[in-house]
Amino acid sequence: MAENIHPIFNSMLDRNAKEKLLNQKGVVVWLTGLSGSGKSTIAQEVEHLLYQKGILTKLLDGDNLRTGLNGNLGFSKKDREENIRRVAEVAKLFMETGVVTICSFVSPTIKIRTSAKRIIGDVDFMEVYVNASFEECAKRDVKGLYKKALAGEIKNFTGLDAPFESPSHPNVTIDTANQSIEESVKQLFNSILERIK
Ligand code: ADX
Repeated sequence: MAENIHPIFNSMLDRNAKEKLLNQKGVVVWLTGLSGSGKSTIAQEVEHLLYQKGILTKLLDGDNLRTGLNGNLGFSKKDREENIRRVAEVAKLFMETGVVTICSFVSPTIKIRTSAKRIIGDVDFMEVYVNASFEECAKRDVKGLYKKALAGEIKNFTGLDAPFESPSHPNVTIDTANQSIEESVKQLFNSILERIK
């Protein structure tokens, strides 16, 4: 715990001022789901659509952040919790700057997502469940990770020897096994527009 620190508040330009400047509202769009469920693909395409609409976004993605800020973390329960804690704090900074912040993380447990929500705040947290079963993701196996995990070459693999707890009341559920990427992208895009209008 840090000691002898004195955060500034009063003289800082507030969120309202920044949202006015950008003419948009900040929000955190939190995508959770198994590896390979389609989170990153959907997030990237939605970001393009929002950009075309003149909306400023920031995409935070598990695989990318794990090469930098979270490069020292693995996939133990403790490391995943720290991964998500850092991400939620960063997302909050962007959100408070008025940016539509899209987070794409497996974030496998209710505890982890609840902690992210607590950091970001209920009203600014839009939980999106990118739903595809383990079998479906293993069939796609875009990154070849399922093959490795099933061969015992990856430990603590989500859905296999590490848990994935589905969200019970997500704001949006995207069923990527039964609809096209295009449909999923459109669904999320519309939900975000509705949320920030
Ligand atoms: S989280 O569980 O801490 O939220 P995060 O979203 O950052 O995970 O990273 C998940 C990505 O890391 C996966 O999409 C996959 O590419 C890769 N990965 C590597 N090892 C694992 C593992 N053991 N479990 C899940 N994903 C893994």
